[in-house]
Amino acid sequence: MANTNPVKVAMIGVGAISGIYLKNITNVFKEVELVGVCDLIPERAEKGVQTVKEYIEAGAKAPVPKIYKDMYEAFNDPEVEVVLNLTRPYEHYGVTKAALEHGKHVFSEKPLAADMEEGTKLMALAKEKNLLMGGAPDTFMGAGIQTARKVIDDGLIGDVIGATCAMIQHGPETWHPDPDFLYKRGGGPMMDMGPYYVTALVQLIGEAVGVTAVTKKSFKERLI
Ligand SMILES: NC(=O)c1ccc[n+]([C@@H]2O[C@H](COP(=O)([O-])OP(=O)(O)OC[C@H]3O[C@@H](n4cnc5c(N)ncnc54)[C@H](O)[C@@H]3O)[C@@H](O)[C@H]2O)c1
Repeated sequence: MANTNPVKVAMIGVGAISGIYLKNITNVFKEVELVGVCDLIPERAEKGVQTVKEYIEAGAKAPVPKIYKDMYEAFNDPEVEVVLNLTRPYEHYGVTKAALEHGKHVFSEKPLAADMEEGTKLMALAKEKNLLMGGAPDTFMGAGIQTARKVIDDGLIGDVIGATCAMIQHGPETWHPDPDFLYKRGGGPMMDMGPYYVTALVQLIGEAVGVTAVTKKSFKERLI
């Protein structure tokens, strides 16, 4: 018989992106259960729990998550099976590494790590410990890219000889409440938005054999 127990998850980092995870874990995905949250800023963890409580009051069937005093308390919680890493890119490596070392599977927000070396080390550690690693973006599983997948697989457009993706925007200070991390190590358009487009391309037409890049600094100063 299939195991129907939900997978128990601890959320590390309850910042801007946590809202959609809290909403979907509590209201949509019955396969996962949020057992606890933690943030360096305790009020953010409290606000996250409050959000879940409001969903429960509105009818969601979910437990009220615990608040961990720090990430290590979450990693030492025997109830936790998967650590959900929603910290900033330059923190991903440290948080994911410590979670793996404590025997937890990890799902990380993008980018997996701030550079190739860190990412490769994490994958090796997960393999060595026989743990699973997953990462955003999961957008390739959505209707748009899956439709493109079917169009290619069914031969509707013949041999794919090229593909193009583009994103143009002024910068994250136009919408993110704390955008400074997006100008630090592991940030920038290629690391922040690139994963969505690179993932789509790799999923649809295969892995890259080479990369060429051109860059420029568009504004000397940006106002948060
Ligand atoms: N904001 C978005 O719309 C968005 C969308 C998709 C993906 N993401 C990705 O999600 C990740 C988080 O982005 P965000 O916008 O939520 O950032 P954020 O700065 O709003 O939140 C990050 C939170 O992590 C906490 N944190 C950092 N280290 C911690 C630790 N060791 N223990 C506990 N808490 C810790 C911080 O205190 C902060 O509250 C990034 O990798 C980003 O690329 C964000």
